[in-house]
Amino acid sequence: MVEAAAVRMNVVIRPARADEGARLKEIAAGAKGYWGYERVKVREWADQGDFTPERLRELIVFVADSGGRAIGWCSLIPKDEVVWLEDLWIEPEWIGMGIGSLLFRQAVDHAKALGAERLEWEAEPNAIGFYEKMGGTYVRESEESEWGRRLSVMGARLDA
Ligand SMILES: CC(C)(COP(=O)(O)OP(=O)(O)OC[C@H]1O[C@@H](n2cnc3c(N)ncnc32)[C@H](O)[C@@H]1OP(=O)(O)O)[C@@H](O)C(=O)NCCC(=O)NCCS
Repeated sequence: MVEAAAVRMNVVIRPARADEGARLKEIAAGAKGYWGYERVKVREWADQGDFTPERLRELIVFVADSGGRAIGWCSLIPKDEVVWLEDLWIEPEWIGMGIGSLLFRQAVDHAKALGAERLEWEAEPNAIGFYEKMGGTYVRESEESEWGRRLSVMGARLDA
C-alpha cells in the first residue's frame, strides 16, 4: 500500500508555520500544473489571492513534512456540521507515495475532532479516483469554479 511508503520515508504531518506561505503556494502551483494545464493559466490562478499569508491564516492548515521541508499540504474550513476541505496539494515529485492519503486522513481526524458530520470538497477532475479511494462520493455540482468550470462536490460521512 502506497501510504506505507510515506511512513517509511519519515513523512510527518504537522500544523503550518506562519512563515511558509510562499512555499505552500509553490507546492499548490506545482501540483495544479501536474495535470498538464497551461503554465500561464496555472500561474495566474496561483497569484489570484488564495495563497496569501493573510488568506492562509484564515484556514486550518496541515503540512506534510520530510526532513523539515514542506512537500504537501491541506487546509480546512469548519462550516457547522460540514468541514470543507479547501486545499490538498502534493509536490509533483512526491505524488503517488501515500502523502495525499496521510493528509486526507489528517483532515478526516481533525474534522471528527471538531464534531463535524461530513467532510466535503470540490474535486479536481483528475483527482476523483483518488478521492473515491478515500471513500468519497459525488454530492452535487459546484458553483462556477476556476476557469469557468463546474466541478463535482464530493463528500464523506465521518461516522463511517
Ligand atoms: C490527488 C493527490 C492529492 C493524491 O495524492 P497522492 O499522494 O498522489 O495519493 P496517494 O499516493 O496517497 O494515493 C492513494 C491511493 O489513491 C490512488 N490514486 C492517487 N491518485 C489518483 C488519481 N489521480 N486517480 C486515481 N487514483 C489515484 C493511488 O493509486 C492509491 O491507491 P492504492 O491505495 O490502491 O495504492 C495528488 O496527486 C495531487 O496533489 N495532485 C495534484 C493536485 C490535485 O489534483 N489536488 C487535488 C485538488 S481537489
